[in-house]
Formats: sequence, structure tokens, C-alpha cells
Amino acid sequence: MGQSEAEIKHHKIFNKAYDFTKADEIKEMGLYPYFKPLQATDGNTVQIDGREVIMAGSNNYLGLTNDPRTIKAAQDVLKVYGTGCTGSRYLNGTLDLHLELEEKLAKFMGKESCVLFSTGYQTNEGSIQTIAGRNDLIFSDRDNHACIVVGTQASNAKTIRYRHNDIEHLRSLMAKSDPDAGKIIVTDGVFSMSGVIAKVPELVKVAKEFGAGLYLDDAHAIGVIGEGGRGSASVFDLTDEVDLISGTFSKSFASLGGFLVGDREIIEYIRHHSPAHIFSASMPPANVATVLKSLEILQEEPWRLKRLEEISDYMRTELKNLGFNVWSSQTPIIPVVIGDMFDCFRFWKDLFEAGVYSNAVVPPAVPQGQALLRTSYMATHTDEQLDRILEAFRKVGIKHGIIDNNGS
Ligand SMILES: Cc1ncc(COP(=O)(O)O)c(C=O)c1O
Repeated sequence: MGQSEAEIKHHKIFNKAYDFTKADEIKEMGLYPYFKPLQATDGNTVQIDGREVIMAGSNNYLGLTNDPRTIKAAQDVLKVYGTGCTGSRYLNGTLDLHLELEEKLAKFMGKESCVLFSTGYQTNEGSIQTIAGRNDLIFSDRDNHACIVVGTQASNAKTIRYRHNDIEHLRSLMAKSDPDAGKIIVTDGVFSMSGVIAKVPELVKVAKEFGAGLYLDDAHAIGVIGEGGRGSASVFDLTDEVDLISGTFSKSFASLGGFLVGDREIIEYIRHHSPAHIFSASMPPANVATVLKSLEILQEEPWRLKRLEEISDYMRTELKNLGFNVWSSQTPIIPVVIGDMFDCFRFWKDLFEAGVYSNAVVPPAVPQGQALLRTSYMATHTDEQLDRILEAFRKVGIKHGIIDNNGS
């Protein structure tokens, strides 16, 4: 018998939402670390709950979000173009600023052409969906970012996932696949949780062996690593061997948006076929101007990349010396493994109370039992701030029994 109207509180489709109580439970325990509203920030520090804490969980790698020059560049264009484009690039939403940025990025990356998207997420989702079609095969690293996963799901191609950074596994899967199918290998250039760099030389080799295209998502690599900040392929001097490289503006470039570079024909095809590009409004002018200024600063102030590398090495070494497990981080993303999810939330809270903001990352974003605090660093962090972060980790680590008293 059906339920009476009075008994039906909501439609069945919404059961999953009404049954989702986990976030409320964690909030009641006073341990919920997400969606914390920042009340103000100067980049290195943030005001939260009326207190100032050091930001050790931002992707603002070059420290440009609060630079007076990027702020002025954004302000200046507001007067010329207004606040938004109110349409997609295809129709009314292309500004001369967008074309200038595409040209400068293609040149910077040493590729023929560039297409902008309104976020990095849309860049990968929209490009992968478009370039891999029916009868094609996508070979995707199991630890790839969610936007790549969604792009592979949205495409009509078949996706084959290989074990994280495991080139032998990739090769064996490629060897078993249809030799006549169009193929592309897609991977994060730097993995966003571990800070590990993809094995670009081996990927280039295997791509050549099986006649596959190679696509790198360099969201955490461009403006961070490689020659002049040109990303993961550039670390190995292999940019010419990689077909498509994507980047984001939400990290080193202090803004919002994303881009893809590659051969002119491939970029033109994506520009004319990607739903994420065609059916979504273009980057607002202030965002574009911020990126143009950030790109200029990146090239004029090489000290930022140097400092970023130096302080990342310093923090990795010191966290390891204290006794923390930082996985195999190679970049400014340095995870600190705590283990149990609730222990991780408690650690996060104590660290926050000790004046340091980090990001709690729990399964399924990381394997079960490997909940971690994702820390990341920026060129503008002062030595004193870095040492305060380390001291907070030392104290909280000892309190929680993650490290022992000998951590020095
Ligand atoms: C590897 C990777 N790709 C893409 C993105 C998406 O970038 P955006 O923030 O510009 O949407 C992110 C952001 O978290 C990322 O970590």
C-alpha cells in the first residue's frame, strides 16, 4: 500500500540528502573543518572567527592575490569593461583582453595556440570530453583530479584507469588495447594531494610506443615548477613532446579561470566544440587582467619561484625531521599524514587554535586510514611564519602522539 500524503515527507529522489547526516554530526562534535568563512586576508594570514592565523593551506603559490599590482590591474579594467562579460566567448563574451592573454600564454608555454575557460575544472572537463570521442580510449591515472574524471565520464570514449604513476601498469593496459583506436594518456602534472610530479619522460615514451596523445593537467605546476614556472614537462625539458597542457588561474595566477595549450588545429577544434567553453560565460575582465599582471610578475621576478622551491624543501625536510610522514612530496604541496579521519579533524582543530590554517583531507579523496592535513606554501611566507607553522605542528603532533618528544 502507498503512503498517505501526510506520511510522505519528501520525494524518494531526495532520500539520500535527508539521510546525509555526517556533516551535522561532525559539526555537533565541534570538529567540522570545512567552509570556514575568511573575514579578511593579506595572503599570508587570514582572519577567521575574529582571529588571525597563518595560511598554510592556500594554492596562492606566488603570493600574488594581494599584491598591489594585481589589485590595481583588476581595478583599472573594471572602468573600461565593467564587471562581467554576460556571455560565452563564442558569442558576446570575447574581449580583446582574452585574446591578449591567450597569445601571451601560448608564447610563454612554447605552444602554438591557447584557449581560455572560465575555471580550471571546466578546462579539463571540457577539453577531455571534447577531444576523446566514440571509439577512442582514454588512459587515466587513478589519482587524477576530479575534473579529469568527470571529463572522462562525460566523453563518449572508453576510459581505462591505470595504477597511480605506475608506467608498467599503463604499458600493459595499452598493449592489451585495440591498436587501431585513437588513444590519449591523461594525468595530473603534479598530483594535488601528494605534491608528486608525474613521470613525464616515461609517459612520453609509452605514448610514442603506442601512438597515443599525452595530456598534462598542470594546475599545480605552471607558475610553480619547471623552467621559469613552465610546468611539469618543462622540468624534464619535454614540453615539445607533450600534446596538450592545461593550467589554472586559481593558484599561482591569483585569479579564476583556466587554459589549454597545444597545436593550433587541436585548440581550434576544442574552441569550437567544447560545451564547457561554448555554453558558459567567459572570464570576467578583472580576472583576465589579474592573470596578465601575474604572468608579467612571474617573468620579471624569478626570485618568487626560487624562494618557493627553497621554502618547500625547508618545510619538507623540517616536517620529516620532526617525525611526520609527508608521503613523497616534491613540490610546495606537503601532506602531513595523520591516519584516522576523526584524529585528523582533532589535529586540524588544535593546529587552527595554535594559529595555523591547513586543509583536512579525508577518504575518499585519500585512501582509508590515510587522512591528512594538506599544507602548501607561498613565496611570500616569511621565515618567521614558516617556523611558527613548524612549532605548531611540533606541539600538536606531540600532543596527539603522531610524533614523539624527540621530534626536534
Ligand atoms: C589538479 C587540478 N586540476 C584542476 C583543478 C581545478 O582548478 P580550478 O580551481 O581552476 O577550477 C584543480 C583545483 O583544485 C586541481 O587541483
